Amino acid sequence: MGSDVTYNFVFKLVLVGECGVGKSNLLSRFTKNQFTLDSRSTIGVEFSTQIIQLGRTSIRAQIWDTAGLERYRAITSAYYRGAVGALVIYDITKQPTYESVERWLSELYDHASPRVVVMLVGNKTDLESNRCVTTEEAKHYAENKGLLFVETSALDSTNVQLAFNNVLSEIH
Ligand code: GTP
Ligand code: MG
Repeated sequence: MGSDVTYNFVFKLVLVGECGVGKSNLLSRFTKNQFTLDSRSTIGVEFSTQIIQLGRTSIRAQIWDTAGLERYRAITSAYYRGAVGALVIYDITKQPTYESVERWLSELYDHASPRVVVMLVGNKTDLESNRCVTTEEAKHYAENKGLLFVETSALDSTNVQLAFNNVLSEIH
């Protein structure tokens, strides 16, 4: 009995955003400390779980990842069902991926609980010289929408832990 690992909470998080923004690499960086330079599009849905310690509480985060491209996507309603947190991700070097955040948010709110905790994530900060979306603009947008906000790099690990941990502690 004593050796049983118990988790006080299991939280489902979903990753959304356009194709190529780095959803799968943020997930693999967070759960396995791995990054793939030439990763392929996700097909269907993939999961990873990670145990997080928040104070004296163990949280088991079950993180769902699907493709940005419609034709590779998992069934939408099943993907969002039961999610208590979401990372809506764009690529700071690709303006269209930021423009489409609005559309991802409406899909999320159509299917998830209205109380879902949402973080806007600007990924690929290692490519600063190619930046198209300013930090100020995205931060302002997030504030207006009541979203958490962070900029990350799955490549060099900047803020990856912080992003997931902040969403989880906000839910908790
Ligand atoms: P789909 O599954 O097609 O929706 O894409 P995705 O959002 O999962 O993107 P993925 O993680 O597969 O990354 C797409 C490409 O961007 C890959 O070539 C990654 O190596 C690259 N990439 C991901 N994150 C970063 C980052 O932080 N910096 C840089 N420079 N490249 C990144
Ligand atoms: Mg992917």
